[in-house]
Amino acid sequence: MAKATLSFVCQNCGAAFNRWQGKCESCGEWNTLVEEDAGGTSIPASIRSKRRGRLFKLESLTGASVDAPRTASGMSELDRVTGGGFVRGSVLLVGGDPGIGKSTLLTQATSLMARAGHRAVYISGEEAVAQVRLRAERLGLADAPVQLAAETSVEDIIATLSEGAVPRLIVIDSIQTMWTDTVESAPGTVTQVRASAQALIRFAKKSGATIILVGHVTKDGQIAGPRVVEHMVDAVLSFEGEGSQQFRILRAAKNRFGPTDEIGVFEMTGLGLREVLNPSELFLSERDLGSPGTAVFAGLEGTRPVLVELQALVVPTTLGTPRRAVVGWDSSRLSMVLAVLEAHCGVKLSGYDVYFNVAGGLRINEPAADLAAAAALVSSLANAPLPTDAVYFGEISLSGAVRPVAQTAARLKEAAKLGFGRAVLPESARGDASGDAGLVLGTVAGLSSLVADIAARGTARPSRDTGKDTSAEKNATPARFRRDHG
Ligand code: TYD
Ligand code: MG
Repeated sequence: MAKATLSFVCQNCGAAFNRWQGKCESCGEWNTLVEEDAGGTSIPASIRSKRRGRLFKLESLTGASVDAPRTASGMSELDRVTGGGFVRGSVLLVGGDPGIGKSTLLTQATSLMARAGHRAVYISGEEAVAQVRLRAERLGLADAPVQLAAETSVEDIIATLSEGAVPRLIVIDSIQTMWTDTVESAPGTVTQVRASAQALIRFAKKSGATIILVGHVTKDGQIAGPRVVEHMVDAVLSFEGEGSQQFRILRAAKNRFGPTDEIGVFEMTGLGLREVLNPSELFLSERDLGSPGTAVFAGLEGTRPVLVELQALVVPTTLGTPRRAVVGWDSSRLSMVLAVLEAHCGVKLSGYDVYFNVAGGLRINEPAADLAAAAALVSSLANAPLPTDAVYFGEISLSGAVRPVAQTAARLKEAAKLGFGRAVLPESARGDASGDAGLVLGTVAGLSSLVADIAARGTARPSRDTGKDTSAEKNATPARFRRDHG
């Protein structure tokens, strides 16, 4: 008896089922199963059994290694993220929210490549040629010798690009609009996206062209369609940013030929994306000097130090369970810092809502931000502005100790370059601060000493029971900061 073909495919994760159901058992998403023709993907047994394997040569790990040949794009922020340029024969997936600027970024990249004398092709499956031209005109790039087409058939695209010189860069905008004859599903379905991506990847490897696939993103930030495409490509880049702000950050989620911790920072202007070579200046450009609840964190994004303002607002709660809202940082990290403040520093936060934000739309992953976050939180609670010329960094352990972090010297140098006068850092990091950056160093061994310092500077906000009392000055050093040990 013939085996039933699995023909209901989850559009979120790519799992296949042999009957329709409301919820995908694999990823838990609802209403994502779509009937697809999965036929044609298996090879008949009669052919399978006849084919004998071809012999190939096995190599050793040592040997003449060739460096992956790269071509710089001409946009240094893009090259920073890719690891120094486009590697021949590699395929990149660029994801991001609609309207974030993916097409703009890639129009600029193709134009610069074309101007540098490389064959650069832009295939748009979403916009008509006239629309792409209009954008290029707006960007002042209309004169770049880019080869442009509005096409969606993968076979036609590969046939056309196989003619003439091998293109150095091919942009496919977007992979969800592509379709191939080899499978019967509708464009945009998992099967189509996977088959189209496979065909394009094969073409890239064979010809040595670099292909950039644009991918749509679902509302929770995943690249739409099959996660499998992420596994198939050499690099996955995501283009992020708050729609209301003009900063855009390009980040590598996966990169076979480079680092994944570098970020590229851009600013969306009326004339397209402008590269931001010194992101610290951008993230600190609109600081609210002298207000409580803000601390400058001397962070590190890849190899580049980046200073960014952390903002905290701690207010008496009106709810049974206090709110904790975080933008740009890990919420479990915030909970941890709050717990350490409560357990080791006598800071009682259970009656307060806590709001936490990283300025400029940056997302921080480093544990080194703990100390700056704690400083901002305590500053807001104590209504005590922190010194405006200070930067903070250090990891907080669950015991309340402040632990050293990597690259102390680089962080201090960046702070000095931007005019900061002092740094608050882990005591054990003093030795690493060798390259005398000219900053006054304030070291802390434990979080409680930082809390005591900040509390001594300020006056407390009215607490919940004295909610109507708005003259914060009335309460001197609050009981909340009394150490409950020692
Ligand atoms: P686009 O590149 O089309 O986004 P995506 O391909 O990611 O969907 O960019 C669309 C937005 O960018 C649009 O809202 C207008 C804005 N934009 C500018 O602000 N300046 C420009 O020069 C261009 C071309 C676009
Ligand atoms: Mg687009």
